[in-house]
Amino acid sequence: MQVFREKEEVKKAIQKAKSEGRSIGLVPTMGALHEGHLSLVENAIKETDQVIVSIFVNPTQFDNPEDLEKYPRTPDQDLQLLADRFSNIWVFFPEAQELYGNEILSENFDFDGLETVMEGKYRSGHFDGVGTVVKHLFETITPHKAFFGEKDFQQLQIIRKLTHKTGLPVEIVGCPILREDSGLARSSRNERLSSQNREKAAFIYETLKEVQGLFGTESAEYIEKWVKERFEDHPYLKLEYFEIADAQTLKKINRKQSGNQYRAFIAAYAGDIRLIDNIALDN
Ligand code: PAF
Repeated sequence: MQVFREKEEVKKAIQKAKSEGRSIGLVPTMGALHEGHLSLVENAIKETDQVIVSIFVNPTQFDNPEDLEKYPRTPDQDLQLLADRFSNIWVFFPEAQELYGNEILSENFDFDGLETVMEGKYRSGHFDGVGTVVKHLFETITPHKAFFGEKDFQQLQIIRKLTHKTGLPVEIVGCPILREDSGLARSSRNERLSSQNREKAAFIYETLKEVQGLFGTESAEYIEKWVKERFEDHPYLKLEYFEIADAQTLKKINRKQSGNQYRAFIAAYAGDIRLIDNIALDN
């Protein structure tokens, strides 16, 4: 395993790999790696010749300094995990200044409204921060393909829009959500849940599965009300939002239209830990 801390160093290695005809796959992460990340790496290994995992806790995507401070950082464990599991992996592990230069600031993006709904409504500036760091990473690594989890489905669609708008020649590959045995979507935040809350948080996925069943026969309005009531009665989880939206535009559904793809999205708190999840709905 090779670890790069400087842009020039990684660029040189990539140039060489490309000159040998090898394709480059990027898996961007903020560290605190878990099985969900490792499954992205496995997908990347299947589809590209040289995989690079970036580990960088991006300050500009946090709307709250306390959240940034609390974000889990486990660099030694992350490197060990990658080295144990994969033989020919590269890791890009920059400091903020190395990636951003002297000014650690977000660019302002227009993602055609994808950024103003759901997560964008509750986390101001979040997607400008994500767009900024992903653009820096794409410009540095120049991958042929980049791999993102569908757990952050809104982020995935925004990154697709980013590459479309900037013309960066990267194919974005969305990878299925990896779940714990209980159904809870894998996330670095799960480590911060008490064992009781971790068990109870499976309710989020159970709800999404029920929604999937209801979507065939019930209206979106009915399902929304049903989900809200279900959470109101819950002693441990607090619903922040539930939405059924068009999978491409992320606009809230008005009326089901055949041929369109829809997804249901949830954000909820278990104590002070914010969890998100989503599911595809058959139409
Ligand atoms: O999904 C994440 O871990 C982050 O938002 C990303 C894409 C690595 C950007 O910092």
